[in-house]
This record gives sequence, structure tokens and C-alpha cells, in this order.
Amino acid sequence: MENPRRGAFIVVEGLDRSGKTTQVATLKSRLEAEGISATILKFPDRTTAIGQMIDSYLRSHSDLDDRAIHLLFSANRWELATSIERMLAAGTTVVCDRYAFSGVAFSAAKGLSLDWCRAPDESLPAPDVTIFLDITPEQAQSRDGYGEERYEKQEVQRKVRAVFGEISCEFNEETWVTIDAGKEREEVGSEVWKTVGPLTSGLSRPLKRLWH
Ligand code: TMP
Repeated sequence: MENPRRGAFIVVEGLDRSGKTTQVATLKSRLEAEGISATILKFPDRTTAIGQMIDSYLRSHSDLDDRAIHLLFSANRWELATSIERMLAAGTTVVCDRYAFSGVAFSAAKGLSLDWCRAPDESLPAPDVTIFLDITPEQAQSRDGYGEERYEKQEVQRKVRAVFGEISCEFNEETWVTIDAGKEREEVGSEVWKTVGPLTSGLSRPLKRLWH
């Protein structure tokens, strides 16, 4: 029988090297320890054919027009949209490492208009909450591995952070939660759990759609 309460859709966003991947993994372990079925997704999903084109672009092995790469990032989310909906309907909590907000923030930071950037993601499943791990570009730069990929430059990250700030204004404090990711990993983890914990008993409200 289908679970009457759907799983929660949780998105974790942030600048490069803000600790998203670590926090998402910690969150999954915590959910599982509580007996909650949870799946992690990561965008870009570099395993698909579209994802491989994105990967090549991010590693600077290929060049693409700004609009073309933007559309590929969006298509990469659409590839998984139906399976996200199915997992949520089956009662699984879906935790997503980056989503459409990164799509808008990174492309708008290059000078594309916000409206143009938002259009291809319209009607994707909307997260129940977006957790934004906030870090300054200076803090990010001091972390291991910084600088390996295309956007890991201070001036880009500064612009991206400003666009994330603009996007956050459209949400209320229940649907967009900003956490200071410059703090100790454990402290950030407990703040993440404070946000996610109340959603773990499942939700009866229907899933919303971007950007409504
Ligand atoms: P990652 O390091 O989390 O794998 O992210 C890859 C890079 O791609 C990161 O710099 C953010 C960027 N990005 C976009 O430009 N558009 C998108 O839609 C997504 C999901 C990521």
C-alpha cells in the first residue's frame, strides 16, 4: 500500500567548498539512524550522457556557450524529475546536493538575466526546504581542493553569493534556511538537523512546483 505521507524534499545549496557534500552525507546517516528511508541526489549528476558533457565543461576540457551549458544543467535535473517524484510519493526523503538555485545563481552571475535563467526549471518539483550553507568566498578559498574547477575563483563566487541572496528573498524562513557554514562541522550539522528533523515524519501536503 502506498504511504499516505510523502517523503520530504530537502535541497542543500551553497558556494563551492561550503561543505555541502559532507553535510549531506552526515544528514543521510542521521536520517537512517532514525529509521527514515533517505536518498541522496547530487546535481550535476555527472553519470548521465548530459552529465558527462557538463563534467567536461566544468573541468575546462570543453567550452560551451553560457546559455547552452545553462540548459544542459537544467536538462540534467529534468532527467531525474520523475524519479524524484516517485521516491517522495513512496515515502522516501530526498536530500539533494545542489538544485535549480545553483543553476540560476551560477548563470546569472555571468550576466544572464534572472528571468531567462529561471525559465527552463519552471515546474520542476520544488523543495520543501532549501538549506543554504553560507560561507564567504575568502573562507571557501582556504579549503582543500579549491580552484580545481571552472567557477572556483573569488570574483565568480562573490557574484554567485550575491545572486543566492537575491533568490533567498523570494522565500520565507520555513522554506529557505541560511546556516553559517564557516562554523565547526558538528555545529553546522546540528543546525541542519534542527531544520530537517521536524520534516522526517513525512508530509501530507502536495509537492509544490518551481517557481510557484
Ligand atoms: P559541484 O562541485 O557541487 O559538483 O558543482 C559543480 C559546479 O557546477 C559548481 O561550481 C556549481 C555549478 N553549477 C551550475 O553552474 N549550474 C547548476 O545548475 C548546478 C547544479 C551547478
